[in-house]
Amino acid sequence: MKLGIVGYRGMVGSVLMDRMRAERDFELFRTTFFSTSQVGRAAPTVQAGEAVLADAHDVSQLAAMDVILSAQGGDYTSLMHPQLRAAGWSGYWIDAASTLRMQDSAVIVLDPVNQPAIQQALDRGVRDLVGGNCTVSLMLMGLAGLFANDLVEWVTAMTYQAASGAGAAHMRELLAQMGGLHASVAADLSDPSRSILEIDQAVSAYLRGDQLPTQAFGTALAGNLIPWIDKDLGDGQSREEWKGAAETNKILGLAPHTIPVEGLCIRIGAMRCHSQALTIKLKTPLPLPEVEALIRDAHPWVRWVPNEREASIRELSPVAVSGTLSVPIGRVRALSMGNDYLTAFTVGDQLLWGAAEPLRRVLRLVHARH
Ligand code: HSE
Repeated sequence: MKLGIVGYRGMVGSVLMDRMRAERDFELFRTTFFSTSQVGRAAPTVQAGEAVLADAHDVSQLAAMDVILSAQGGDYTSLMHPQLRAAGWSGYWIDAASTLRMQDSAVIVLDPVNQPAIQQALDRGVRDLVGGNCTVSLMLMGLAGLFANDLVEWVTAMTYQAASGAGAAHMRELLAQMGGLHASVAADLSDPSRSILEIDQAVSAYLRGDQLPTQAFGTALAGNLIPWIDKDLGDGQSREEWKGAAETNKILGLAPHTIPVEGLCIRIGAMRCHSQALTIKLKTPLPLPEVEALIRDAHPWVRWVPNEREASIRELSPVAVSGTLSVPIGRVRALSMGNDYLTAFTVGDQLLWGAAEPLRRVLRLVHARH
């Protein structure tokens, strides 16, 4: 199969390349790399890869591919996908961007959770295969066992989302803010007689002042949080929050019996792992050992963390999970509202299971059908 890759140099694209190399995905394809700005220059070296970069705006070059995998972003998808389809191209378009996600012609791919739905969609001739929103995908990876057994009446997800979800420039800015923050009081900090309240005052002044780099976030994230992610939909909900129910129900194929997924999405100063505090209303009360077994046995990547202090601190944090495919879930217990109300906390790398991994895995699913 001929594979075209667009957007391999960006953050998601780079993580994808690393994973595809590690899993030897390139051995399955004849790969052409496309570029919007460096056509004709040397392409990355992979097994059976074309030596030079092709033109990502050339419909005929793109249309020669059996599969196009794009991590180039939504604007590129909006520009090129309609042109390709209008030209009669019927290949597989695999995309990290949200542009096509909610269209009837697309399936959202997260195979540990919805492999049968993906296969059925491919059987029906669906050719647009789109990765889900990172928060939604990571929540579903954590709760897969409960959803698969139709146990969830509703869920609230209160998120703690890392800088990476906003982009590479935002990760840099977070670190620059942290550095500036420390530098603004470094001398005072090394003086043990200096009162912490004085230091705090200086820190707050720095965070509110015009020395703080805020080009990307528009405000402080270091020493702070931002209680809004993505667009304002005008009804009190952010677009990130809207995606919770919309994408969960689409991924699980629940319509018309959709379940509410609600919550607030918050940006915090973690680097690349999104965390979520969940409240789950079960359809029927379930003993905790059964909940544990269902969650733990759902797929190989979910990891049950006992609801204990040491294990939670050690295993259930962005720092512990960053750069891994493990999706730990812990802090699970029945709430005092009733034993059909559970709470849970889950963490996942938003660049791996939240972005790149479902795409490279659906690439393999597509390959296996040919
Ligand atoms: N929208 C997500 C975020 C990342 O801002 O964290 C992309 O799914």
